[in-house]
Amino acid sequence: MNYKILELLKANDTFVSGEEIGKIFNISRSAVWKNILKLKELGYDITSVTKKGYFLNGSSDVLNDYEIKNSLTTETFGKNFLCLEETDSTNEEAKRQAQNNIPEGFLITAKRQTKGKGRLGNSWSHSQNSALAFSIVLKPPLIPTDITPLTLITGLSVCEAFRKIGVPAYVKWPNDIIINGKKAVGILTEISCEIEKISYVVIGIGVNINQSSFDDELKERATSLFMETGRIFKRTDILNAILNELEKNYYEFIRTSGFKGFIEKYESLCLNIGKNVKAVSKVKDISGIAVGISQKGELIVKNENTDALSFVSGEFSVRLQDGKYI
Ligand code: BTN
Repeated sequence: MNYKILELLKANDTFVSGEEIGKIFNISRSAVWKNILKLKELGYDITSVTKKGYFLNGSSDVLNDYEIKNSLTTETFGKNFLCLEETDSTNEEAKRQAQNNIPEGFLITAKRQTKGKGRLGNSWSHSQNSALAFSIVLKPPLIPTDITPLTLITGLSVCEAFRKIGVPAYVKWPNDIIINGKKAVGILTEISCEIEKISYVVIGIGVNINQSSFDDELKERATSLFMETGRIFKRTDILNAILNELEKNYYEFIRTSGFKGFIEKYESLCLNIGKNVKAVSKVKDISGIAVGISQKGELIVKNENTDALSFVSGEFSVRLQDGKYI
């Protein structure tokens, strides 16, 4: 019942009286009130005013089964999903789910991650209510060696999704999303494969959405969509925007079996290209100018000592106009 009332409030951009709601659903005014309380508990921002009734603030940002189901406009991505209150890591949960026969595009979201994972063994901290953490399970019909560009395509998709909603995002190779010099999104891709065949790929995405600050350790490097635009976003709108771009690009990648068709777009949004870059590596120090991306998704770097070096993975810092490396 409370979702029926929610739908009614969503359909009205003005107050709806308790009496009217009661009449429509044939319930008492106190039953209406109880349902409204339940909706408030679920996180919906409903104003109650005596003699006027109830008004739902249209920008209520709630992450639950109902909101996910009603906001996704994708064809397959996220059509089957699990929306959890808490998990260790949505990537770990996705891997557990992948042991069952789940369909491609299965989505896991969680309000809290107790052991969020970042790239290169780092941890990923997640602010409940103001950030989004989700993972999607894919089963690409490719051989393991052809999968590298998928992580770049994910970065590109997030970047394109943000640009469509007016956020000036760039991708730092391979797939950090940077807005005004700070990181707003992290992507962690994990693969389970046999020698000749990919069993599944888990793509985990963490998005800083409505945070207004970060602690001392992160504040120089991290940002959120709110901090860069002054706008509050609904987590489900961001989820939908990203999944739509990712779904489109993923099927194109599978259809054309390659990254070739994405290079131009990726390079145009890639922060590294044409800039000084430094490899952050324990093995050897490489610095030079990032000149392009190969068909395999490698970063191509040139310096005075060498013609061109290609990197399939790793961490590069990029020198920005103000001389700072990020
Ligand atoms: C990075 O280091 O930049 C990658 C961060 C990836 C974080 C996301 S949040 C959702 C998913 N679950 C995880 O444990 N990690 C990824």
